[in-house]
Amino acid sequence: MIPTYKNKKFIDEINFFDKIVLLRVDFNVPILNGHITSTKRIIASLKTIKKITNDGGRLVILSHLGRIKTKDDLEKKSLRLVAEKLEQISGLDIKFIPYNRGQEVENAIQKLENGQILLLENTRFQDLNNKAESKNDPELGKYWASLGDIFINDAFGTLHRAHASNVGIATYIQESGIGYLVKEELDSLSKLIFAPKKPFYAIIGGAKISDKIGIISTLLEKADKVLIGGGMGYTFKKALGYKIGLSICEDDKLKLALDLMQKYPDKLVLPLDAALAPEFKDVEPIYNEENPLEIPDHLEGMDIGPLTIKLFEDQLKDAKTVLWNGTLGVAEFKNFANGTREVAKIIAKIPNCYSVIGGGDSVAAIEAENLTKSFSHISTGGGASISFIEKGDLIGLGPIQEKDDNKPKTL
Ligand code: 3PG
Repeated sequence: MIPTYKNKKFIDEINFFDKIVLLRVDFNVPILNGHITSTKRIIASLKTIKKITNDGGRLVILSHLGRIKTKDDLEKKSLRLVAEKLEQISGLDIKFIPYNRGQEVENAIQKLENGQILLLENTRFQDLNNKAESKNDPELGKYWASLGDIFINDAFGTLHRAHASNVGIATYIQESGIGYLVKEELDSLSKLIFAPKKPFYAIIGGAKISDKIGIISTLLEKADKVLIGGGMGYTFKKALGYKIGLSICEDDKLKLALDLMQKYPDKLVLPLDAALAPEFKDVEPIYNEENPLEIPDHLEGMDIGPLTIKLFEDQLKDAKTVLWNGTLGVAEFKNFANGTREVAKIIAKIPNCYSVIGGGDSVAAIEAENLTKSFSHISTGGGASISFIEKGDLIGLGPIQEKDDNKPKTL
């Protein structure tokens, strides 16, 4: 089976000279107290930006940042900060305009010369207008498409969304293709889902089964083992009849958890113990040494414990492929980041293993440990990588032009 993205036009096959190029990137970066805390997504866009400008394109960049619900969100979620960081990192001159629609935008684009770059304001500011961006309003998609000649989608992290600034523009513009980051991500993830070297083990963390049920079910079919950590582990444990104290649990998913365990008894690997706390706070961990499988009524599971770390190490040691998504405990708390950190170190040491990691928090954990070089691929997209692994395709790729499609579009 050939994944559909392989048939899509690629950036190297397009002539940008003297053309207005609309580039969708994913600059949805984490910001804390007015500072960008990870520049990974900005750095990941540079190859595509430089290709288009070096080839003489007039580049107009679009991105979202966060979610916009009320006018109060506007100031905090402006892309101005990202424009400054992009300029600093790339060494290129970045013109920023605090609009993404209207006369100012059209004038700024008309003034662009070949090789120059304009970054428009957060596309989700249009969500204040009946969620026009997120609901893929056709008028908005058509308007944005009308601003340029060519559309390149390099926003891997947003490819699981059908929004006006990706699917909308691609639907209404004459020429479109995918950028370097999208191709690199899809090539790497394809190795996992289409031809993984065995044994293939997956580690899935995060708070809720409901968020990840699709990927867990897919992996139970494709992988040799699926190791479960994070908050969702307590739902599985409760379904088996263990006491989980005050731990997070999705009671409406107990039957689902039990069904999965009955269907795949040899594949699902559950935690053997937990690091506990009396409440959801970053306090010294407590361990139930007498009976590590059970959690007393007054305590809450916050991380996997040492027995589980050892169990995961034993399971993973002969892995040829590992996929990891989601933290194994409350990794933002110093006292409960240990499981996530130790498992990162274990994967980093497995010889000749193709290791892929996706999901913001688990990536942050390996960055904090300086282990990024020990992984084969670190995805810039959490939801997008999950969706691709689940379905082998992504909705944002749909309207991108096919390689052999040279017909003018009739809309
Ligand atoms: C992400 O960070 O996963 C992407 O940028 C998509 O963001 P969203 O979940 O707000 O659509």
